[in-house]
Amino acid sequence: MVRRSADGQQVVGPREVLGVPALPPVWVTGLVMRLRARVARILRASDPPPVRILEGLQGVLDTAALVTLCRIGVPERLSGRMDVEVLARELGVDPARLGRLLRYAAARGWVGLDRHGRVRPRPVLTFLRADHPGGWRAWVEFMGGEEVLAAISRLDVGMHAEGDPFATAAGAPFFGWMEQHPERHATFDAAMAAGGRLHGLVLARSLDWSTSRRVCDIGGGTGALLLTLLAAHPHLDGVLLELPEVAERVPVRERLTVVGGDAFAEVPAGCDTYLLVNVLHDWSDDDATRLLAAVARAMAAGEVPGSRVVIVEGRTDARGRDEFTARADLLMFALTAGCRERTRREFAELGAAAGLRVESTVPLPSGSVAHVLRRAIAT
Ligand SMILES: C[S@@+](CC[C@H](N)C(=O)[O-])C[C@H]1O[C@@H](n2cnc3c(N)ncnc32)[C@H](O)[C@@H]1O
Repeated sequence: MVRRSADGQQVVGPREVLGVPALPPVWVTGLVMRLRARVARILRASDPPPVRILEGLQGVLDTAALVTLCRIGVPERLSGRMDVEVLARELGVDPARLGRLLRYAAARGWVGLDRHGRVRPRPVLTFLRADHPGGWRAWVEFMGGEEVLAAISRLDVGMHAEGDPFATAAGAPFFGWMEQHPERHATFDAAMAAGGRLHGLVLARSLDWSTSRRVCDIGGGTGALLLTLLAAHPHLDGVLLELPEVAERVPVRERLTVVGGDAFAEVPAGCDTYLLVNVLHDWSDDDATRLLAAVARAMAAGEVPGSRVVIVEGRTDARGRDEFTARADLLMFALTAGCRERTRREFAELGAAAGLRVESTVPLPSGSVAHVLRRAIAT
C-alpha cells in the first residue's frame, strides 16, 4: 500500500490522499460540488419533515459508528470478504451486535454486506486503516475525543458574543487546552496533517513555484503540507513556524527548518512565500490583522524581491448550499471562538490594515481558494 521514493521516503500522491489517480481540474471540482448540493436538495425535498428531523438528530450516530468501527479494529481486520461471525471472533466482540453495526456501516456505504452475512471493505474503510498513508484515521480519533463531542453539544453557548463552546465544555480555549493535553494535541496535529497532505499536493500544482526558493508555512502543524510541497518541487527549501510543543513533534528532514515560536510575535524573515493554510479562520479580525502584520514585518525585514503571502481557506458559502462546507464551518465554530471564514473582500480589508494587498485569488481543485497578497509598498 505504501509507495516509497528512491531515498526511502513515503510518496504521497492523489491516490493515497484522495483515492483518485490524479487531482481533478478546478472546474470538475466545482461541477461535482454543485451537483452534489443539487441532488441533496432534490432528495431532501421529497422527505416529510419528521423524517428530516429524525435524520438530522441521528446524524450524531455517524460519528459514533465510525469511532466504534475504528476502536474495535474493523478497518485493520477486514481486508477482504469475510463472514461476520469470523470477523467478530477475530475482533473478540459479539457477532450479533457487530452485525448491527455493520448493517449501519453498509447503509452508509462504508462496507458491503451480502445476503449470506459476508462483509467486505469499501474504499472508505480502507482509508480508515491506522496504517493508511493518507492519515485520515486521525480525524476519527480527533472527532471521537470527549472534549470535541462535548464542545459540539454546547454550540448554543457560541450564539452569544464572546461565548466559547469549547472553553465552556472543556474548561479552557482550544489551543490552551491542547497545550495541557499533549496526547490529544498530537491527535489534532495528525488530523491536520491529513488535510495538509492534500493542500500540499494542490498548492504544488496550482501556484507558480518557478521563481520561489524558500517557503515558510506558518502554523503548518507537523509539516505534512511542506514536506509534500518540497517533494513535488525539489528546488524549494521549507521553514515551518509552529507553537513550540508542536514544533517538537516535526520529523527531521532535509531542506526543512523548524522554528518553534509564536507567529503573533515573530515570523522568520528571508522567505519568498509565506503560507497561512487554514490558520486565519481560527482568529478574530483583530488577531488575524496582527498575524498578517507580523508576516508583513518579516517580508520587509527579509527584503526578498517579489515575496508573497498565500492564504488558503475554504470557499465561503453564504447561502449554505454546500453541506460539507457548512458542516466544516460549524465544527470550527464549536472549537475556536471568534473563528470565521472570510470572503476575498474581507481578506483584502484585513490585508490593507496590515500593509498587504490582494493580488489574485486562485480557486483550488480541493474546493478551497488561495489568496495571493503582496506588500502594499514593495521593497
Ligand atoms: C487549524 S490548524 C491548521 C494546520 C495546518 N496549517 C493545516 O492546514 O493543516 C492551526 C495551526 O496553527 C497553529 N498555531 C496556533 N497558534 C499559533 C501561534 N501563535 N504561532 C504559531 N502557530 C500557531 C496550531 O498549532 C495549528 O497547528
